Amino acid sequence: MRSYGYQHLRMFRVLALILLALPQATISLKLREVSVPAVVIKGDDVWLNCTYDLEKETLYSIKWHKNNVEFYRYIPADNPPGQKYELEGIHIDLTRSNEGNIYMPTTDVNSEGIYRCEVSSEAPIFRTVRGEREMRIYVNPSTKPQILGTKAHYGIGETVNLTCKSAPSRPAAFLKWLINGVEVAPRSNKLYRPQPVEFPAGLFTSTLVLTFPATHEHFYDGKMTVQCEAIISQAHTLRSEEITITNSTRASAATAGDIDSMKDGPKISGGKNEYQVGETVDVNCTASKSQPPAELHWYINDKEVRSDYLMPRPPIVYPGGEESTVLGLRFEVKSRHFQKSEMRLRCTATLSEVKKMTSEPLEVEIAQQQRSDLHVDQVNAESVQSKSTTCKISIQVIRSLLLILILWSSL
Ligand SMILES: *[C@@H]1O[C@H](CO)[C@@H](O)[C@H](O)[C@H]1NC(C)=O
Ligand SMILES: *[C@@H]1O[C@H](CO)[C@@H](O)[C@H](O)[C@H]1NC(C)=O
Ligand SMILES: *[C@@H]1O[C@H](CO)[C@@H](O)[C@H](O)[C@H]1NC(C)=O
Ligand SMILES: *[C@@H]1O[C@H](CO)[C@@H](O)[C@H](O)[C@H]1NC(C)=O
Repeated sequence: MRSYGYQHLRMFRVLALILLALPQATISLKLREVSVPAVVIKGDDVWLNCTYDLEKETLYSIKWHKNNVEFYRYIPADNPPGQKYELEGIHIDLTRSNEGNIYMPTTDVNSEGIYRCEVSSEAPIFRTVRGEREMRIYVNPSTKPQILGTKAHYGIGETVNLTCKSAPSRPAAFLKWLINGVEVAPRSNKLYRPQPVEFPAGLFTSTLVLTFPATHEHFYDGKMTVQCEAIISQAHTLRSEEITITNSTRASAATAGDIDSMKDGPKISGGKNEYQVGETVDVNCTASKSQPPAELHWYINDKEVRSDYLMPRPPIVYPGGEESTVLGLRFEVKSRHFQKSEMRLRCTATLSEVKKMTSEPLEVEIAQQQRSDLHVDQVNAESVQSKSTTCKISIQVIRSLLLILILWSSL
């Protein structure tokens, strides 16, 4: 009995060794692509597609998770094979979904997150491959920023106290004030920037308060124009394929099997699969074309590289004004770069789309009494201040207010 059990163990060992020795690429299940849009405008429909190569294996299941919570599984042996689970932000149309490809006719702010697709093969192999993608949900402001607290006339020395408020957006808008077309420096003591308020859920309203005493320098021909600008930066990061480099010819040089590469991700060029300590790695990372240009980062074994390893390269400029950013990586290989005889290189591209919306210019006038008298002193200014508030609103102000109203109502 004892030797029988021992023989079994030996046979198992031999079998295990054979399985390990077989070149993996020829038989194993592979993830080809996890396709999830990086940026989605709230309400848009999306496809979440997971494609794989079974090779010689049989499919057991395909599972989709958002932030580690399963919301869909496809098991050919089940009836029906495709099933969904309730999860915030997940809206699946099963009639249009098939196998690993899911159709969501709509999205909301809760749809944002990390999506993972996991494909498993049947017995006896039970292999699982997985890939992840991040999806961000953006919401553009529905209207231009508004200016609150305005008066038609200001006396010299009087406090101008205006609040700029953006329409709800995601992410929060960054606001700027301009006086007579000149931007007020972001750190100026004229500004007070409260934290953006989350309302409604998932959207943010930004405010920026501008306070300063009106002086003669602010008025040109008796008029001052103030304007507010809302800037929304919609950034997303794409990863390149990960390149695995070994320090020995015996170890297999393969790219990371589990995590697939991004279709529009940056590309790595010029490398070898094998380096010895003392050799120089000299590679380039090239982003796909965009406007504004992408920002690139290099990582060795998931750690961002030191700046002295980086070689800035001239970008590739296309006729339409779009650019492909190029960033070189050059360093001498040290043994510390290898973890278990492997060194992994990766590059990421961050693309940002900057949206700007500017308020209607608001024109205010100097108080009538002070127009001809350009050297009013502080005391004098205080005394005319109360009178200035009674001045009738100028035609120009009425016109710009009407224009704002018309624009608002048409939005
Ligand atoms: C995802 O799959 C569906 C159906 O299989 C297809 O119509 C759609 O074009 C695919 N989308 C992407 C981005 O691959
Ligand atoms: C500006 O106006 C707001 C109300 O609109 C008020 O709370 C604030 O105290 C004012 N600031 C100054 C400096 O007058
Ligand atoms: C990287 O790009 C530069 C030009 O931008 C080129 O001169 C260099 O040869 C490239 N290096 C590799 C390894 O491709
Ligand atoms: C590869 O690197 C590992 C870890 O630094 C080291 O133990 C191993 O001896 C190296 N192999 C060769 C062939 O240089």
